[in-house]
Amino acid sequence: MSLQAPLPAATFVYKSDPVRGRQWAEVFRAQAPEIDFRIWPDMGDPAKVRFLAAWEPPENISECFPNLQVLFSSGAGVDQFNFAALPPALPVVRMVEPGIVQGMVEYVTRAVLDLHRDMPQYRRQQQRGEWKALPVRPASQRRIGVLGLGSLGQAVLQALQGLGFACAGWSRSQHQMDGICCYAGSDELPAFLEKLDVLVCLLPLTDATRGFLNADLFSRLPVGAALVHVGRGPQLVTADLLAALATGQLSEAVLDVTDPEPLPTAHPLWRHPQVQITPHIASMTQPLSAAAVVIDNLHRFHAGQPMTGLVDRARGY
Ligand code: GLV
Repeated sequence: MSLQAPLPAATFVYKSDPVRGRQWAEVFRAQAPEIDFRIWPDMGDPAKVRFLAAWEPPENISECFPNLQVLFSSGAGVDQFNFAALPPALPVVRMVEPGIVQGMVEYVTRAVLDLHRDMPQYRRQQQRGEWKALPVRPASQRRIGVLGLGSLGQAVLQALQGLGFACAGWSRSQHQMDGICCYAGSDELPAFLEKLDVLVCLLPLTDATRGFLNADLFSRLPVGAALVHVGRGPQLVTADLLAALATGQLSEAVLDVTDPEPLPTAHPLWRHPQVQITPHIASMTQPLSAAAVVIDNLHRFHAGQPMTGLVDRARGY
């Protein structure tokens, strides 16, 4: 139960998966009963709608909700929003909540441990009925680099560091993390890449990151490095990945995101022996913790404090 002052009465519309919406509604009933929480398409009087949480907002958002004050993404990304169609001054907020962070930490840790302990080779050996031990390397000799040092990238690096891996991170702007080598900007990208055994992509999708995982970037990794891609499908140039796997420049790829999604049945990635694919499930918004974070953001909004996850539209995330 919140000890904060009640929020001003307003309508909040949730436009995403309705089953999860009903869990959000329970949290709002308990923690912010003054808010009239509704699940799309039930929106009551549209003029009273001040807040919208959506994966895909309605195209004519200003006509639908003429008095909208904040748009919340129901997921970690905002690349699905058409910013040109949104009122220029409307604050847009990404989902930064502990459930998404935990899911991503679990997924990437599993993928890195799987690669580190040579599980892809053992699965292939098993298919051939081949009993052959490969050398076991200590985690401290495995160098893992994460592209993107937002809340997800930082949490993933801390978990990997806790397992003893040699960790580095790269981001557009300078960051500092205890015991983790942080690189920044395009000038420092080659120095970051040249030391890695596993590259993890956790970048947001923007014009600057579309096609980022391409032949040139792969050529800067040590021969035989592996890729774990949990960013967005359009960041990866699929033909370049297939070529890098064919030459051995890359040894394995773990892809949770593809372009397009879903991947067509006949796509070569599906049956590639060195590729693991999951259907964009690395992490998902957890309704109970997400609704609590959004209610906290409503309090922040009304108190004139910065909201957690507020998007800088110029940067695109
Ligand atoms: C999933 O990809 C999300 O943005 O939450």
